[in-house]
Amino acid sequence: MKKLCLLGLVATLATQPVWAETTPVALKDKDAFVSDLLKQMTLDEKIGQLRLISIGPEMPRELIRKEIAAGRIGGTFNSITRPENRPMQDAAMRSRLKIPMFFAYDVIHGHRTIFPISLALASSWDMDAIGRSGRIAAQEAAADSLDITFAPMVDISRDPRWGRTSEGFGEDTYLVSRIAEVMVKAFQGVSAANADSIMASVKHFALYGAVEGGRDYNVVDISPVKMYQDYLPPYHAAIKAGSGGVMVALNSINGVPATANTWLMNDLLRKDWGFKGLAVSDHGAIFELIKHGVAKDGREAAKLAIKAGIDMSMNDSLYGKELPGLLKSGEIEQSDIDNAVREVLGAKYDMGLFKDPYLRIGKAEDDPADTYAESRLHRSEARDIARRSLVLLKNHNNTLPLKKSATIALVGPLAKAPIDMMGSWAAAGKPEQSVTLLDGLNAVIGEKGKIIYARGANITNDKAVVDYLNFLNFDAPEVVDDTRPAQVMIDEAVKVAKDADVVVAAVGESRGMSHESSSRTDLNIPQSQRDLIKALKATGKPLVLVLMNGRPLSILEENQQADAILETWFAGTEGGNAIADVLFGDYNPSGKLPITFPRSVGQIPTYYNHLTIGRPFTPGKPGNYTSQYFDDTTGPLFPFGYGLSYTTFSLSDMALSSTTLNKTGKLDASVTVTNTGKVDGETVVQLYIQDVSGSMIRPIKELKNFQKVMLKAGEERTLHFTITEDDLKFYNTQLKFAAEPGEFNVQIGLDSQDVQQQTFELL
Ligand code: BGC
Repeated sequence: MKKLCLLGLVATLATQPVWAETTPVALKDKDAFVSDLLKQMTLDEKIGQLRLISIGPEMPRELIRKEIAAGRIGGTFNSITRPENRPMQDAAMRSRLKIPMFFAYDVIHGHRTIFPISLALASSWDMDAIGRSGRIAAQEAAADSLDITFAPMVDISRDPRWGRTSEGFGEDTYLVSRIAEVMVKAFQGVSAANADSIMASVKHFALYGAVEGGRDYNVVDISPVKMYQDYLPPYHAAIKAGSGGVMVALNSINGVPATANTWLMNDLLRKDWGFKGLAVSDHGAIFELIKHGVAKDGREAAKLAIKAGIDMSMNDSLYGKELPGLLKSGEIEQSDIDNAVREVLGAKYDMGLFKDPYLRIGKAEDDPADTYAESRLHRSEARDIARRSLVLLKNHNNTLPLKKSATIALVGPLAKAPIDMMGSWAAAGKPEQSVTLLDGLNAVIGEKGKIIYARGANITNDKAVVDYLNFLNFDAPEVVDDTRPAQVMIDEAVKVAKDADVVVAAVGESRGMSHESSSRTDLNIPQSQRDLIKALKATGKPLVLVLMNGRPLSILEENQQADAILETWFAGTEGGNAIADVLFGDYNPSGKLPITFPRSVGQIPTYYNHLTIGRPFTPGKPGNYTSQYFDDTTGPLFPFGYGLSYTTFSLSDMALSSTTLNKTGKLDASVTVTNTGKVDGETVVQLYIQDVSGSMIRPIKELKNFQKVMLKAGEERTLHFTITEDDLKFYNTQLKFAAEPGEFNVQIGLDSQDVQQQTFELL
């Protein structure tokens, strides 16, 4: 028996990779293990680990496997099934040191089951729901052999012209920071080394959302205070939550591209924040240093990036080519390369890959027979999470909920749009598996009522826009036009509307309009659809707008035309069912806007927490010589934090436990919230603080806490919020993070404008 065991051990060792043979004990100790492995590596093998390669359909797989076996690739992205990735890991196991590959993908808001886009998830203000979406995404991705995601994307977006607004969690630093933490923990689970976890890599570090004019890839020019106070905290929150990776932004910051920015990558990220993980460049970003104008050629670009601490080169063309020469000439040091390799190996260690390179790939016999099998989806969770993310913006005369016995005219280019329902960055989601609004309404209404459908309009009549969207963003053209003349489509929709009790119009943007490289100069619903809405309004039938879009839209006119408006963003695989649940009142909407809706594009910036000014505009008072635009009403169309319900809520008895707060003390802010309507419902009670006067100007208010509460009809509850000195700290002109004694306003409300206020003094 003993002898057999020994033989077994020898047999195991003989097939073990070199690193496992030589350092079996050190596996317990990450640093020692990584250092030991590093010592065994040649320069070529080291540089190979720094190369992250995109696996496109056109890539010669044979060649890739050869490169991997030669130790020239450290990880890949965009190959997303076990059968695809297994041969690559097999190739890695044939390499001299058998260092495992990792497999990465953009798992942003779901993997196979697509959850609502990030902006919609944020609209739920429901940390449990958001966490569940991230955990399920991780489990599905891990089951498909993925080890790491390029997410969460926590860029603060205060300019809705920016197409990637859809991909982030909105405009508010506090809310986005809370979500950043939740998402990292959801992706990584108990440990990133577990088979059902994936490593997070927070992006885009840093400040990508502050691109000038909301134009993608543009420069970021920002004051240090604004950077520290408003834009950096969400990344920091993700790092503090343990994000194993960071993806570096494409933009420059105050004159230096992030990819070459030693202050950002070394001083701030690694030294100040103590980050000890993997820094990955964005796609082609090292090469772009030439276009930015800070590197004269590829060689200099590679040098700047490795010196700045960019460990891995995404879609590498330069590290592999230039690093050997740079080292030979003494322009970079061995330690520059070693430091980067150490992080790559460390990340692989943390992903559990040295223990088992096939941890997430599994055995071939266990591969799913059908990758796209329905049984692999998490539909009920997706439906539940999606309905929590919908925001009711208007409900005149209780137009909603709809009666299930009604005849409903469903119109609009987004009523039957399975691809758009998924939103952009829809990972491995399949449009065939997403539930459209037409599907969802039909499923709920069954035999009781009737849905009559007409498309009514194309997304846009602007051919140049259609061509752009089809050319740029996705693998196949997906904005497909109905070739009938616009008026014919409108006439058909009007006819259908006249035969119905109520009209539901699904309008807004195609998903590609809110995506990378999809910045817009206006925020209107495209004219083709506005013409449709106008014609529908003219029928006199009650009009419900179901908005689908990835950014705030300016819907001033539509807000006047519609009786009810439901903001649904892009609600994911179960979107149609979730929207139907809300439209028919099977779920009472509870979402709140995580970003301000401007009246017009010209009002931008409209984020709620702007700084105080010397000549503020006061509503109701003459505007002369105050800060405003004289040709439109001042203020947003819908403020941050806004959202209605089928019931009503009221706040009363706001109180502070004291009018003073000691530096080490605590203050209790309480308020009673009452469900004053006839149905049960949930709302988000929000707490804002304003530092009234100090050494520098401060925001008019800042979100500092919130609670989402469920109340039965007629029920009331007293909520308590604790305020400490930490909630009052800010970065001053010396970038010192500290609170200043003095007066503070505390506001509690159901949105950022409708608030009650009390005041206290920090001693
Ligand atoms: C995007 C990143 C993404 C990467 C890989 C880039 O174009 O900016 O957010 O992770 O592509 O798909």
